[in-house]
Amino acid sequence: MYKLLKQEGLARRGTVDTVHGTFQTPCFMNVGTAGAIKGGISTMDLKELKCQVELCNTYHLHLRPTDTVIRKMGGLHKFINWDRPILTDSGGFQVFSLAKLRRIKEEGVYFQSHIDGRRIFMGPEESMRIQSNLGSTIAMAFDECVENPATYAYAKQSCARTTRWLQRCKAEMARLNSLPDTINPHQLLFGINQGCTFDDLRVEHMKQIRELDLDGYAVGGLAVGEPTEEMYHVLDVVVPHMPEHKPRYLMGVGTPSNIIEGVARGIDMFDCVMPSRNARHATVFTWNGIMHLTNQCYETDDRPIDEHCDCPACRHYSRAYIRHLFKAKEMLAGRLAVMHNLYFYNTLTERIRSAIETDTFAQFRAEYSGRLAKLIR
Ligand code: GUN
Ligand code: ZN
Repeated sequence: MYKLLKQEGLARRGTVDTVHGTFQTPCFMNVGTAGAIKGGISTMDLKELKCQVELCNTYHLHLRPTDTVIRKMGGLHKFINWDRPILTDSGGFQVFSLAKLRRIKEEGVYFQSHIDGRRIFMGPEESMRIQSNLGSTIAMAFDECVENPATYAYAKQSCARTTRWLQRCKAEMARLNSLPDTINPHQLLFGINQGCTFDDLRVEHMKQIRELDLDGYAVGGLAVGEPTEEMYHVLDVVVPHMPEHKPRYLMGVGTPSNIIEGVARGIDMFDCVMPSRNARHATVFTWNGIMHLTNQCYETDDRPIDEHCDCPACRHYSRAYIRHLFKAKEMLAGRLAVMHNLYFYNTLTERIRSAIETDTFAQFRAEYSGRLAKLIR
């Protein structure tokens, strides 16, 4: 499934083959939480924006419109009209960040819906059944994303439970994939490494989960408030213990600079709400740094957001016009800015891929890792 095509240092250029086609890595997955990218972006737009993989959330789709409805509609691909890979997160993060009154037990998590307060139970089997009803390309294991900071004792027992949950996920997924009427009988399962910022727990957990020979491995529990250097340190420690011939996914990360630094440490896949969320608040990423489009200085600026960008917003509209749309609270403002940011992220990973191919990733990193993080006007 994963092919390693080329390496430069720890940075990897590869491909991932799935029933919904092949995607190129390093890859940034575009986040469509409830089955759509926020900001009014359609799946037709996503193709124009060079999106390879869309990420959707088990938690949100289970609450609304429910996975049984989506199954009746022929599965998530058909429902949202997207024929390329979809990765679904398991709910194991959203339950911890969104739901109310959570109680974690060995069997799973009891919580109240953030929409209507309804009492719900989700454990490994429920998460796998929901993701099977959705028929996504890649299902994520049901895990506990431990809050930061956490005590060593709590992190240790939580990791052990996440491992037991993973064993249950694997067994349930095998059963579901072999049923005669499964939406996607080739659904892939990725395990998730946890362990907070404790090096020995991270490594021990990674060693345990790699024994289960899953289709891919993610590093979770990061970008939850720890300093960036601590996140990079966890990658330095844990990535050497990840299987070489499986895709490696850093969950919920991050800024353009975080992506370059993740690739430099051997990561292949990323996802983050940052490009779409920031765009909806008029913050856009460019090859020279970060801009706030609502700044006064753009009032009569007739240049595109980024003069080196070929996205639909930059090909057709000026900074002055998009600034005006934000000021006038027009829906088009967010839509154009989200288009630009997603195109920027998808182009960033495309440029990272060609840099690795031509052995110039080290130069690319030196030129852009700091520059993309700067605020400009
Ligand atoms: N998204 C960001 N971090 C995490 C995590 O630790 N677990 C899951 N399931 N999803 C995430
Ligand atoms: Zn653009």
